[in-house]
Amino acid sequence: MSLDVISVDDFSHNQLDYIEDPFSFYTLMRERRPAHLSGTIFGGTWLMFRYADCARLMKDERLSNARSAVPLRFLPAEQREEFADMLDIYGRWLAFHDGAEHTRNRRQANRSYVPFTDEHLEPRIQRLVDGLLDQVDPNGFDLISQFAFPLPAMVIADVLGVPVEAHADLNRWTDDIAHLFGSTSVSVEHLHRTRESTRQLADFLASEDNARLSRAEGGLLHQLREISVRGHRFSERDVVAQAALLLFAGVASIRYLIGNCVRALTDVPTTERDLLLHPGTVAPAVEELLRMCTPVSFVGRVAGADFEYTASDGTVLPLRKGQPLLLYVASANRDPEVFDRPDELVLDRPLPNRHLTFGIGRHLCFGDPLVRQTTRIALSSLYRRWPQLHVPPQEANWNNNLGFHGFTSLRVTSGG
Ligand code: HEM
Repeated sequence: MSLDVISVDDFSHNQLDYIEDPFSFYTLMRERRPAHLSGTIFGGTWLMFRYADCARLMKDERLSNARSAVPLRFLPAEQREEFADMLDIYGRWLAFHDGAEHTRNRRQANRSYVPFTDEHLEPRIQRLVDGLLDQVDPNGFDLISQFAFPLPAMVIADVLGVPVEAHADLNRWTDDIAHLFGSTSVSVEHLHRTRESTRQLADFLASEDNARLSRAEGGLLHQLREISVRGHRFSERDVVAQAALLLFAGVASIRYLIGNCVRALTDVPTTERDLLLHPGTVAPAVEELLRMCTPVSFVGRVAGADFEYTASDGTVLPLRKGQPLLLYVASANRDPEVFDRPDELVLDRPLPNRHLTFGIGRHLCFGDPLVRQTTRIALSSLYRRWPQLHVPPQEANWNNNLGFHGFTSLRVTSGG
């Protein structure tokens, strides 16, 4: 494919041509234009495709994560005001803070998470997985709606100590927010819906019933309220915001990851898939799936000040304060400078697998242990029950958003 065929100028996160096969586009960009200034995305955004640049820029403290308002750049200035209220909750997310404030909030959240050890979580996740798989018809079922869709919302609700039965609402609310942050263009209608979903999610997390339940369970929602580190406590609005962040960050991402993994594993011989079933081989296999199948295609930043950055190909980026950058981790994960056979799924690829799926540096994903554990339990349970599980040929139904790359439905069957 040539860059004339897939035009760089048309590139967006919401266009099916790129969603169906972003990897050919990434390959071309890594080779020919690894640092590209898009005039169309957010009115002027640098897109970075090589591992070296993505890793370096994610750690560069001259870049800021204060980017809660970036999606509103879709709108003319006078309309942005109308939606400013919904930024209050996103602006409180620890993910969007820098420097000392980020360190303090992250430490506080880490301490709240401490009771959730692997031993504590494993049987709970296994129970949720088994409960869902017991209900499907193994001769043919939709992996997404019947399994990958409910599971992550249930797991995170369980961690928070709120009712797992709320999973459908949690999915709906967080999907609206995920669409906002993963897209490069959204409609005003979508913004109205997202504002309403954000309000409903916040009301749910702030409700007295859920506060009581979480306290009784020793859940994370309760811990976020209770734990004080060096005299610092989260305010009530901060508690709700951090809990909403965990749901936003974890629900859609794990859903699409499971679908992408099962799709990728269909082309792998059963004997190789068995690597997922054994304690000695499962860890490298899961890391490799994380490398190849990540649904989170990019990480965003904005320039914290005016400065110049020289990219790995020598391109000089004259960054202006506030200018957005999109760092394509899904492209970095297939960079031949770092990975042998970058486009192949090598389930016994030696550790450490240096993928950037969870980012790198101070903003490294907060939920990575939960993702690894949920993915391992979900996949090993599927293939232990049905070793021949596969995806028959079908038309792919993609989520219309490269930011959360994956399928909205995926028919699977356990037949030979
Ligand atoms: C497939 C699943 C997931 C992927 C691929 C993923 C990926 C990422 C990435 C790339 C970042 C770094 C963002 C940056 O550098 O700005 C991040 C941050 C974060 N993730 Fe995840 N994530 C996943 C699931 C989860 C889950 C399940 C949770 C929580 C329950 C979670 C919570 C967070 C939080 C709170 C941050 C912000 C951390 C900070 O800024 O200090 N993520 N994630």
